[in-house]
Amino acid sequence: MAKLLSSWCKDAQSLPKNYVFPPDKRPGELNSPVYSGPVVDLSKAVGQGQAETIQQIIQACQEFGFFQVIKHGVSGSLMHDTKNVMKEFFDMPDEVKSSVFTADASKRCRLFTSSLNYTNEEAYYWRDNLTHPCHPWEDCMQLWPKKPTRYREVVGTYTVEVRKMILKVLDLICGGLGLEQGYFGGDLSKIELLSTNLYPRCPDPSLALGCHRHCDPNLITFLDQGEVYGLQVCKDGQWIGVEPISNAFVVLIGCQLQIISNDKIRGPEHRVLTNSNKDRISIGCFVIPTYECFIEPAKALVSTCNPPLYRALQYKDFLSTYDEKIGNFRAVMECSKLQVQ
Ligand code: OGA
Ligand code: NI
Repeated sequence: MAKLLSSWCKDAQSLPKNYVFPPDKRPGELNSPVYSGPVVDLSKAVGQGQAETIQQIIQACQEFGFFQVIKHGVSGSLMHDTKNVMKEFFDMPDEVKSSVFTADASKRCRLFTSSLNYTNEEAYYWRDNLTHPCHPWEDCMQLWPKKPTRYREVVGTYTVEVRKMILKVLDLICGGLGLEQGYFGGDLSKIELLSTNLYPRCPDPSLALGCHRHCDPNLITFLDQGEVYGLQVCKDGQWIGVEPISNAFVVLIGCQLQIISNDKIRGPEHRVLTNSNKDRISIGCFVIPTYECFIEPAKALVSTCNPPLYRALQYKDFLSTYDEKIGNFRAVMECSKLQVQ
């Protein structure tokens, strides 16, 4: 099995060939503009401020497919602590990490390098990743790494606080779409995966990628991208950098939310650049429907004047298409679309 990037890359003087992306996919221009994108202060989403916050969120989802949330209720020190624990995790020797090191997608807790598609990639991603379920924490904590010793305690507390924020944001999106409160609260958001990326400093960021262009297949993603820039979102055909804001979460609309909204809001294509100065850690919380769940445009959002654009598809079937056509977002969504007569 491929060795973890973090176990050898510190000695790499130049970028190995199998990490060089073909010219049309490499980042090339590293100085594209960097913006915060829409920033939503969640503490204002109470009383009279609620309607305005909802408006701001929906507009952000329509224009950009993402926004950043601040004052969201997850404490800054907990976010900091969690990032530190993750850093400690990746810093441990390979022998210690070997208990969770696997590229087997059926394993629920997995530490791997590049992607689970390692053997078929045209170029490797400059990253290592640790992914495991995190909700409800009581049911999945046994799967988590035992070391660092405070991993389970810190990550357990973190996921509880993050879940509260997630449900709050989902209800605001409900309000904006015209769906009843709690619409996303059941099977549509039952699974949560915590996915932590380590993007070590890279010998040649103009040729490499931390993650190739993609749209998240799930419902919605909450990402703590830390202090180091790397995330880019495609807007109107242009890559724009997402400026890191201290203690903020980047909220990215996923394919399932796009389908449920009947294209009222859209998931953005995004990718991750590397940099040559600093290691970057990002922690993503992926909100995921159950695999049996049928996803289709919400009944309340379709009518004869606004017919459904997508057919009902079980999430597991969507995922198989997604894995087959990885990197081709349009083709993935086309497979779920209803044929217009
Ligand atoms: C992802 C992703 C962005 C980042 O893991 O799907 O887009 O900045 N991550 O790590
Ligand atoms: Ni993503």
